[in-house]
Amino acid sequence: MKRTLTVLAFLLSASGFAAAPKESPELLAKGKAVFDAQCALCHGEKGDPETSPAGKAMNPKPRHLVAEAFKAGDSPEKVFDSISKGLPGTAMAPFGHLPEEDRWGLTYHILSMRKSKGKK
Ligand code: HEC
Repeated sequence: MKRTLTVLAFLLSASGFAAAPKESPELLAKGKAVFDAQCALCHGEKGDPETSPAGKAMNPKPRHLVAEAFKAGDSPEKVFDSISKGLPGTAMAPFGHLPEEDRWGLTYHILSMRKSKGKK
């Protein structure tokens, strides 16, 4: 049984399919730190690109992460996917090189900003 589970886990990770971990305060804090360092330049610290000189000047503009609909879906899995693979043809580059944990942290940080409408 244990062996089957190991093989299954391997197959899942090899296929690039990542199961969403549980949201936690630690994951959220990590996500915010990585967001401020890697994403705020374009998206704005609270997800509003108008608050960032670089974001404002871009075309197409970075998504307003709080007020706009997401093209590629806004379930945790879809957001994780967009962060990992980027959006081809736009300035939204793939961030698949970041540790998986960081990308889940980013996902939950963005979704929590959306829930609180950027009031945090
Ligand atoms: C160089 C500027 C830039 C950086 C840095 C950047 N983004 Fe983006 N992002 C964009 C642009 C531009 C778009 C909108 C692309 C489009 O119009 O489809 C976007 C779109 C998105 C979307 C919306 C996806 C959708 O389905 O609509 C998410 C989520 C996102 N970015 C997350 C992030 C995260 C998380 C980071 C940091 C790891 C990040 N971005 C870093 C420019 C950037």
